[in-house]
Amino acid sequence: MAGRESESAHAASGEALTYPFRGEHQAGIVTPAQDRLHFAAFDVTTRSRAQLIALLKAWTEAADRMTRGRPAGEIGPVEGAANLPPDDTGEAIGLSPSGLTITFGFGPTLFRDAGGKDRFGLADRQPAALEPLPHFPGDNLDEMRSHGDLCVQACANDPQVAVHAIRNLARIGFGTVAVRWSQLGFGRTSTTSTSQSTPRNLFGFKDGTANVKAEETDELAEHVWVASSDDARAGWMAGGSYLVARRVNMTIEVWDRQPLGDQESFVGRTKDTGAPLSGGGELSEPDFSMPGHDGPVIPKDSHVSVVHPDHNDGVRILRRGYNFVDGTDQLGGLNAGLFFLAYLRDPRTHFIPMQLRMAKMDALMEYLKFTGSALFAVPPGAGDGEYVGQALFA
Ligand code: HEM
Repeated sequence: MAGRESESAHAASGEALTYPFRGEHQAGIVTPAQDRLHFAAFDVTTRSRAQLIALLKAWTEAADRMTRGRPAGEIGPVEGAANLPPDDTGEAIGLSPSGLTITFGFGPTLFRDAGGKDRFGLADRQPAALEPLPHFPGDNLDEMRSHGDLCVQACANDPQVAVHAIRNLARIGFGTVAVRWSQLGFGRTSTTSTSQSTPRNLFGFKDGTANVKAEETDELAEHVWVASSDDARAGWMAGGSYLVARRVNMTIEVWDRQPLGDQESFVGRTKDTGAPLSGGGELSEPDFSMPGHDGPVIPKDSHVSVVHPDHNDGVRILRRGYNFVDGTDQLGGLNAGLFFLAYLRDPRTHFIPMQLRMAKMDALMEYLKFTGSALFAVPPGAGDGEYVGQALFA
């Protein structure tokens, strides 16, 4: 990507997978989940509303360019004056756009500070659904891996393209925002389209089987997209969604010592095909009433039973998480897990009760530690000539 020559070369060879940045909804939600992630949460360091708006305008332009496979700035990494820093950092020269999507969100603290004070004249437009998530049993949160005023999710099939996007947005934001935390992810743990095969998470199980898919437009309208009637003071969120980000460490070494049969009971699906323990194939509906030796064949405390819509007032969520390995811990164990990302219509109905249920009774919990957590309001997509989140400031 980046240089004009490489751009036309890729277009000619047909390698350049691109997703439009502008549209009704932001890209990076129902877009087929790419293989790599760089996610960053930012704190806004300015008090000026005008500077915040200027940043969102600049980010929109840069994201629009980068997702087309162009440099972050108008000039380019090597085309500018020798006595000025380039307006693109250059590590994506020669790389294809790799299906890059860039998705922006607003955290609760953008609206009000810890003391409840209105920061940018936006407090009366804060959605009722956008309150910091409660503390859940089993949360062992690192504050510096949690929260944030703004978030940017960059997904691509090439890790360097995703990192390039976050790096350049951070560079553009210098003086207005500071990176609070960021997370790299490899290996998607979801499918968001029926055209995709189901990948595996670090427990070795297929993940994403029963996810809401792009093709299920009625389900998306019911469970993922915010409707204009949802919140009178947050009409600007219509067509947007809420993003829950949870960094979940998995005790890989302990898990690896569990017998296969136990692992399958904890999940409620077979490790091989991903079929529910009640039988059939991967896409068969689980039968929670089918008897086993000792209670139902799909145990009541299995993950699938705990989080299934039948036991959660019918709610579904769109999961879009990634595996992560951040080196090893002091004991030599992998510092690894699943960076859980989910898009949903309202965290109060579609996430908090499900996470509480999980914390209370999910057999997987013994192998999980929640080390980071954040909630963001993801505004609808920007139309031509608009900047992302424009309706919030209108
Ligand atoms: C490290 C943490 C987690 C792991 C390893 C994990 C693993 C899995 C696996 C293997 C499945 C079955 C395949 C599928 O349908 O995708 C699944 C399904 C699901 N998970 Fe998780 N999960 C984790 C965290 C969570 C969290 C935090 C939530 C929400 C609170 C959640 C909600 C769901 C839902 C809603 C389903 C689909 C259930 C269905 O409709 O059958 N998961 N997960």
